[in-house]
Amino acid sequence: MSEVSNTRSALVTGASRGIGAAIAARFAADGWDLTISARGREALEKKAAELREHGAGRVEVVPADMTDAEAITALGTAHAEAFGRCDALIINAGMGSKGAVADMPVKRFDRLYEVNVRAPYILLQSVLPTLRATAEANGAAKVIAVASITGVYPEPELSAYGATKAALISLCETFNLEESENGVSATTIAPGYVATDMTDWLKDRIPKDEMITADDVAVVAHSITQLSRYAVLPNVVLTRPGANLHRA
Ligand SMILES: NC(=O)c1ccc[n+]([C@@H]2O[C@H](COP(=O)([O-])OP(=O)(O)OC[C@H]3O[C@@H](n4cnc5c(N)ncnc54)[C@H](OP(=O)(O)O)[C@@H]3O)[C@@H](O)[C@H]2O)c1
Repeated sequence: MSEVSNTRSALVTGASRGIGAAIAARFAADGWDLTISARGREALEKKAAELREHGAGRVEVVPADMTDAEAITALGTAHAEAFGRCDALIINAGMGSKGAVADMPVKRFDRLYEVNVRAPYILLQSVLPTLRATAEANGAAKVIAVASITGVYPEPELSAYGATKAALISLCETFNLEESENGVSATTIAPGYVATDMTDWLKDRIPKDEMITADDVAVVAHSITQLSRYAVLPNVVLTRPGANLHRA
């Protein structure tokens, strides 16, 4: 690990657009150092320049594909080497896929599981020593994982996706049992439909301006970092109004 920075730092996956970009922007506005990751370097470099303009401290760009175990481990190592601390690990990169249980190809299920569950597991393992050291030195460190309301309230045709998000919620609950006494705790955020590229397929059914905003999720993520080590928030469901309550 490198010299420990005096500035709080976060590692954000899936930070080039959508919810991850909104979370990175909220942390930047609060002066945090950031490592931002996704697959595409060009979009990340562009995002990094914007974040620096909007108040971020140092911003490191580390491309990594969440299907590549070595790249995920290297991402955690790169963050530790750059900043020597991790106050917030934001596990946000994920993928969606729609299909009934009757005909979802198992290959697609495997891919969802790989990106939405296996990758978070590997990243947690890689960053955990840094999270523990940060909590020991500064009181607390947070893991914030973007799950989905479908992991809590199932939605037809989103069975495989929902199952991966339920697994992510369970993983973070177990993590809390094992780690929260050391000051490292995890929160899953479980939103309904958020207006990002991921929900483009729905735009004829639900107007984008009636969806949860990426910034709504970012506000919740940032506020979790204000909690002391004695407040563990396991899961936050963020749902849409009216008859959509408890639906995606
Ligand atoms: N939008 C919703 O309605 C909604 C609701 C609930 C939960 N969520 C969850 O929120 C998270 C973010 O979703 P979003 O709506 O912001 O999606 P998005 O707009 O499609 O953005 C996805 C981000 O993740 C990166 N990414 C995708 N696949 C990746 C991979 N294999 N390896 C590394 N990075 C990858 C993308 O960059 P690259 O393509 O360059 O890799 C991008 O930065 C996901 O976990 C999603 O399941 C979304």
